[in-house]
Amino acid sequence: MAVILNCATFLSEDIDRADPKRKDVDEILKAGERASALTSQLLSFSRREIVKAEILDLNHVISGIKSLLQRTARESIEVELDLFPVLNPTKIDRGQLEQIIMNLSVNALDAMPEGGRVVVKTANVAVDEAAVRRYPGLRSGEYVTLAVSDTGRGMSSEARARAFEPFFTTKPRGAGTGLGLSTVYGIAQQAGGHVIIDNGADAGTTFTVYLPATSVRVEQTPLPVDASGDERRSRETILVVEDEDGVRSVVDRILSREGYEVVTAASGPEALETFVRHSGPIHLLLTDVVMPGMSGKELADRVKKANPETPVIYMSGYPEQITTQEGVEAGQTYIQKPFTARELLSKVRDVNLSATGSF
Ligand SMILES: Nc1ncnc2c1ncn2[C@@H]1O[C@H](COP(=O)(O)OP(=O)(O)O)[C@@H](O)[C@H]1O
Ligand SMILES: [Mg+2]
Repeated sequence: MAVILNCATFLSEDIDRADPKRKDVDEILKAGERASALTSQLLSFSRREIVKAEILDLNHVISGIKSLLQRTARESIEVELDLFPVLNPTKIDRGQLEQIIMNLSVNALDAMPEGGRVVVKTANVAVDEAAVRRYPGLRSGEYVTLAVSDTGRGMSSEARARAFEPFFTTKPRGAGTGLGLSTVYGIAQQAGGHVIIDNGADAGTTFTVYLPATSVRVEQTPLPVDASGDERRSRETILVVEDEDGVRSVVDRILSREGYEVVTAASGPEALETFVRHSGPIHLLLTDVVMPGMSGKELADRVKKANPETPVIYMSGYPEQITTQEGVEAGQTYIQKPFTARELLSKVRDVNLSATGSF
């Protein structure tokens, strides 16, 4: 897929704007982008068969990804959590619930290019007959709700009517896939819930996800998904360096969810700056190998010069032999992309354990 998209981009850049062939190439590009968006969405759907629905406290899950939310937001945006203190539990897959929160939050951020405020609010809600009449599709009963509000540009009635349609987007090509809300809607429906769109009080939009409340009591601290059975939540800080946004945010999510402090950088120079400016210690450098500008190896060398004890894990989409040609010596800790959460966590744990003595 990357090949199709890259080659079509090269072609499109080479062909004159007026050339009728340009239109065909742009169609290839568009189809490729849709296919690649669909593939990643399908992957997230297939992953959910592995991770199954469990009884969760919504507040707990929101708190778990709070720092990720705050990092995703630009400085001009305020993120506020308004969590109802005694929330009923709900039964849903944790990864899917995180995906709902992230998709809605990212949309809220996109709607506020000039800055503003996002409020993530939870509540226990009893849906009665009056509410059912007002919101067709919602059934009566006990729910927990997740409302994500923004102070952004709001939605036209046409956009509201089509918002949950797969591939419906008003964003420019490359910026939107049109799959965020259809995914949120699909997950909510599957959990027996619903999603409602409201206009904000003065401006902006509020998305409210209704999830059925369950009566079973929730386990306060859900165990991490972890093969080794080590339930200790780590607090080590990991610097993640990866130029591809999608990969970086997935790695961030996997590690944050496990309890690690994560700082991210999109390039070698940015990582060095972060390394210098970060107030606490950085316990591990997890870096991509092949990046434009400065390679992962070069970055690691510079970090080690300043701080020889810092362990490094390289991640690369290339097999180990090719990575070796990039200057990474054989035998160094290395993980090949694509990897699963479990593989990554196990690598990180190995390194951290063996390095603990040196701090
Ligand atoms: N918070 C929001 N404020 C304004 N418009 C929104 C908001 N969330 C979604 N939308 C509209 O709904 C469309 C579909 O959203 P989504 O399915 O997440 O796809 P994408 O974000 O990729 O465009 C967006 O393109 C946008 O027009
Ligand atoms: Mg979206």
